[in-house]
Amino acid sequence: MPDIAFLNGAFLPLAEARVSVEDRGFLFGDGVYEVIRTYDGAPFLLPAHLDRLERSMAEVRLVPDWNRAALEGWIAEATERAGYPDAKIYAQVTRGAAPREHKFPDVPVTTLIAVTPIASLPRKLQDEGAAVISVPDLRWGRCDVKSLQLLPNVMARQEAAEAGAFEALLVGPDGVVNEGAGSNLFVVKGGALVTPALGPRILAGVSRGYLLDLARGMGVATEERDLTLAEIYDADEVLLSGTTTEVLGVVRVDGRTVGDGRPGPITRRLAAAFRPSGSKVG
Ligand SMILES: Cc1ncc(COP(=O)(O)O)c(C=O)c1O
Repeated sequence: MPDIAFLNGAFLPLAEARVSVEDRGFLFGDGVYEVIRTYDGAPFLLPAHLDRLERSMAEVRLVPDWNRAALEGWIAEATERAGYPDAKIYAQVTRGAAPREHKFPDVPVTTLIAVTPIASLPRKLQDEGAAVISVPDLRWGRCDVKSLQLLPNVMARQEAAEAGAFEALLVGPDGVVNEGAGSNLFVVKGGALVTPALGPRILAGVSRGYLLDLARGMGVATEERDLTLAEIYDADEVLLSGTTTEVLGVVRVDGRTVGDGRPGPITRRLAAAFRPSGSKVG
């Protein structure tokens, strides 16, 4: 099966999909996106992803020429055509293609859906936990919008990779740790699961919301509040959540060992509960 794209009304192999060099996504990063994952062919937490896409579009005044039901239909068809049981569905909407001028053009949006295969993170990483580093958060003031403008995230992830780390934690000028470059951050302290509160400094991760619900369902207390780097170094457990990251224990932060150096008990329980029941993913 080929990787499949849906682009502005047509399905085609992803390798054949083309957009204009005047597309505002290309020229300005003027657009928003979602990453959705399937387990055994079924998109996971799709309504929450579509809610967030609608919100991101509204916040940047992107007005699509389609409705949610149409988008859902295209996602379903692209996923079915690709045929991957475990797929990454990338959906992107830009303000369209027009001669380069900052103010909004009067053209239709560009709508892309791309379906590619996905695997869970390596078993060894899941079992042994990840290393992360902290870096300054250089992003804009609306990180609640899932914008295409990811240059600070790209720079941070590259710095992490060059340091042999899985993720970069983004630290504000006030010392508050916001989230990872592509994941939300949690710690466990005194048996409670703590994560930064929603607001313009973080993305409202779909996995984050789901994980908080899972934790409460297990009787684990949850808190949403600011976290400093000192609290993270001192946490009993540190973990990340994300659509492709799922739930991943963090065992080293800036070279310091977290807890006993292995993913902790609450992390392991949450990771085991996170995937849809019956999923065959490893
Ligand atoms: C900056 C950032 N935070 C958090 C997340 C996790 O969000 P979700 O759980 O919806 O994938 C992502 C996902 O890509 C992200 O880019």
